[in-house]
Amino acid sequence: MSVKILDHALIKHKLSIMREKSTSTYIFKQNLDEIAMLMAYEVSKDFPLKLKDIETPICKTTGYELDKQIVLVPILRAGIGLVDGFRTIMPNAKIGHIGMYRDEETLQPQEYYARFPKGLTESKVIIVDPMLATGGSADMAIQDILDRGAKDIMLVCLVGAPEGVKFLQDKYPELDITLAALDDHLNDHGYIVPGLGDAGDRLFGTN
Ligand code: PRP
Ligand code: URA
Repeated sequence: MSVKILDHALIKHKLSIMREKSTSTYIFKQNLDEIAMLMAYEVSKDFPLKLKDIETPICKTTGYELDKQIVLVPILRAGIGLVDGFRTIMPNAKIGHIGMYRDEETLQPQEYYARFPKGLTESKVIIVDPMLATGGSADMAIQDILDRGAKDIMLVCLVGAPEGVKFLQDKYPELDITLAALDDHLNDHGYIVPGLGDAGDRLFGTN
């Protein structure tokens, strides 16, 4: 397993705008879209390729194409906010949806929806969610996707807490996690500190 924290000036700049509590829903979403694009670019760098015969206007030659179907899985609601940015540069990605929310008392995730494209076993599955706090939601999503036969899963989150990262590392030694930032800790209410607040509420204006 690897935990990669992206070190990119634009991501740091844009994430700081998102963290500001005075940032509007519109600007929050705009920066999330832009960061998602940059993250999609970074995480796809080493995706496996296969050779392909192509013909340029000049001659026949050998080119490349991605070896695996990409399946993007946002964890609803907030994960939806990363989909547009990823799709901008991965337009052929299929999208699975998994809906869950954290019970505010117990912090345990409750799954309320799941729908996936066929062919998960052969696909590269990218689970996206802005926040990785206790890791409970990501854990439930990973387990669900593994149970459906997926073998190649990565998790991409904007902000992670050390507690959630460790929990997933211990449980899924093979899993690759990519974050835009690893924050300091979780507070008593399960919020990431310094974090950006409730990502779903800020994205959809429900705060
Ligand atoms: C947030 C976030 C993650 C989850 C992270 O969703 O988008 O899915 O919390 O917390 P965890 O790591 O402790 O499970 P939330 O439950 O607030 O639902 P929402 O997306 O509908 O706002
Ligand atoms: N979910 C959020 O949206 N924010 C946090 O800080 C933790 C979980």
